Amino acid sequence: MGETIIEIKNLFKSYYIGHVEIPALKKINIAVTKNQYLVIKGQSGSGKSTLMHIIGCLDRSDSGSYYFDGHLVEELSDLELAEIRGGKIGFVFQSFNLIPRLSILKNVELPLFYLGIPGGERSALSRDALTRVGLEHRLTHSPAELSGGEKQRAAIARAIVTNPSIILADEPTGNLDSKTGEDILKIFDGIHRDGGTILIVTHNEKVAERVGRIVTILDGEIVSDIEMARTTP
Ligand SMILES: Nc1ncnc2c1ncn2[C@@H]1O[C@H](COP(=O)(O)OP(=O)(O)OP(=O)(O)O)[C@@H](O)[C@H]1O
Ligand SMILES: [Mg+2]
Repeated sequence: MGETIIEIKNLFKSYYIGHVEIPALKKINIAVTKNQYLVIKGQSGSGKSTLMHIIGCLDRSDSGSYYFDGHLVEELSDLELAEIRGGKIGFVFQSFNLIPRLSILKNVELPLFYLGIPGGERSALSRDALTRVGLEHRLTHSPAELSGGEKQRAAIARAIVTNPSIILADEPTGNLDSKTGEDILKIFDGIHRDGGTILIVTHNEKVAERVGRIVTILDGEIVSDIEMARTTP
């Protein structure tokens, strides 16, 4: 077993609409080690995004414990959580979430800007990340001038540019046709081969099949957690 990045024990999370409690996560236990490539799968409304938001320090649990890279998240301030999000976690979303008025290069530079990395280094690291996803010829384009697959490549470049401890992707192929989705998954495969740790949330069986570990969530509970021999080509 490698170094543990994520360790969650007995975690619960509910939403409230007025006084009505909507349990979203119940007694979640999961650990993720360095260089794992895993999928959390489950039907719509099962709690996948809620869990990803908590893992990504975008939201907090109601109870239970969550260690990220050795830090007990419940004890961290909002500022410390923001630092972890900015420096140690790379996010990829279904809807890309690129900033429309910034060029692709500037979009990828943004996380480095927030980390206080100087301009020259920012630009060099961002060009490297864009080259890794095959977008070195689209630096000055705006997001609107890219195809869906290219937008997702740019979002992946933005996620890897800080060299994060883990990449969290919520339905990264959900807005793409199957061929383009396959290309995006190949990029994740490559990042994993290079030593990256990747967690993909999806309801798509095809995505789930290619990774080393599948965690299934149903009505807010983990109902199976299966590790396989490596199947990635
Ligand atoms: N902000 C919210 N307020 C109230 N209930 C919420 C909120 N967000 C999610 N829920 C509820 O919590 C449960 C889990 O939602 P979640 O978004 O985590 O599901 P999901 O597995 O990501 O679904 P999908 O595959 O459709 O994205 C659902 O019953 C949902 O209706
Ligand atoms: Mg979701």
